Amino acid sequence: MAYSDKVVDHYNNPRNVGTLDKSAQEVGTGLVGAPECGDVMRLQIKVNPETQVIEEAKFKTFGCGSAIASSSLATEWVKGKTVAEAMAISNTDIVKELALPPVKIHCSVLAEDAIRAAIGDWKKKNSVDETEAVAVA
Ligand code: FES
Ligand code: FES
Repeated sequence: MAYSDKVVDHYNNPRNVGTLDKSAQEVGTGLVGAPECGDVMRLQIKVNPETQVIEEAKFKTFGCGSAIASSSLATEWVKGKTVAEAMAISNTDIVKELALPPVKIHCSVLAEDAIRAAIGDWKKKNSVDETEAVAVA
């Protein structure tokens, strides 16, 4: 099965690979795994406490090319968005952008889950409840 040019590009030049300080108050960490294949993705965000804008995002993915490309793209997309805006990113957007074939859709789901898990962790740490986050948007 051939990977799309965009997947190959992200795979060869992944954006925002790395780690943020997990213990920092403004950092949210999402760690998710795909039951389909055992791949694991960690995505971290750093959120401005005043504006709730995601200023930094990093990922590390142990997985296939599509999982790496999906998480690389996810870090690019969340940067500069508010937490509420980032919550609206869906795996179907990722599938479209990367032209993922059906067997690789779960790789994009992993990225969506990782974004949501990172935001969830950040919210928990900062005692932000859902209504507050929506009100800022
Ligand atoms: Fe092997 Fe995803 S199934 S890397
Ligand atoms: Fe399992 Fe891509 S994450 S094959």
